[in-house]
Amino acid sequence: MKILVGEDYKQMSRKAANIISAQILMKPDCVLGLATGSTPIGTYDQLVDWYNKGDLDFSKVTTINLDEYKGLEPTNDQSYRYFMNTHLFDRVNINKAYTNVPNGLEPDSVKACNEYNEIINKSGGIDLQLLGLGLNGHIGFNEPGSAFEKETHCVDLTESTIQANSRFFDSFDKVPKQAYTMGIKTIMQAKKIVVVVNGANKAQIVKDAFFGPVTPLVPASVLQLHNDVTLVGDKEALSLVLDYVK
Ligand code: GLP
Repeated sequence: MKILVGEDYKQMSRKAANIISAQILMKPDCVLGLATGSTPIGTYDQLVDWYNKGDLDFSKVTTINLDEYKGLEPTNDQSYRYFMNTHLFDRVNINKAYTNVPNGLEPDSVKACNEYNEIINKSGGIDLQLLGLGLNGHIGFNEPGSAFEKETHCVDLTESTIQANSRFFDSFDKVPKQAYTMGIKTIMQAKKIVVVVNGANKAQIVKDAFFGPVTPLVPASVLQLHNDVTLVGDKEALSLVLDYVK
């Protein structure tokens, strides 16, 4: 695993965006696995900046997002489709028909997940997967205890995740209790993985996930077994692992 340290959030975001832009330049029709959450926002802003300067072309890029809340329509400002449109897709020249997010409005979980697995398989595989890290070590919405061999599936969100995400909703009760998420198996099949982390509240989970035992109790720990992972963080999030970098 490679670790890149940014002085602050902006620098860390720039480092992550650099890896993504290199991927697009090397393979203009690449498949990007994308993430939501507050951490990647700066990465998307940086990519938009470079696009505006004429340095990046998204016209042939395909994107496949990690997850979506079950039951939220794409126009709901808390849906992950809405998030992606606002932070990236509406700001660059990507073909919306090439952007994929699980269908949160499909009530039949098996159907929604099978359809998404088919999209992933037909894409030819994810070239680069961007990931954030949940406070309990979740990636996508693969909560602690998730089996490593799963593909897209429907999950019951844990209390801790609902609590963490309630800051974006009017109240705890409004946070959906289920989501569709790419599984760990799907994530591990990506050719390259970039994990972004920032802030002191992520320091302990970063240490547990990347330097603790590999266990389904800390879903992100499985990334230790992938052969091309880059962890990009600010100094605060990496504070407990900086010794390992030196
Ligand atoms: C959500 C998303 C994850 C994300 C996590 C952390 O639960 N499903 O993909 O990594 O939040 O979010 P943040 O970056 O806001 O800490």
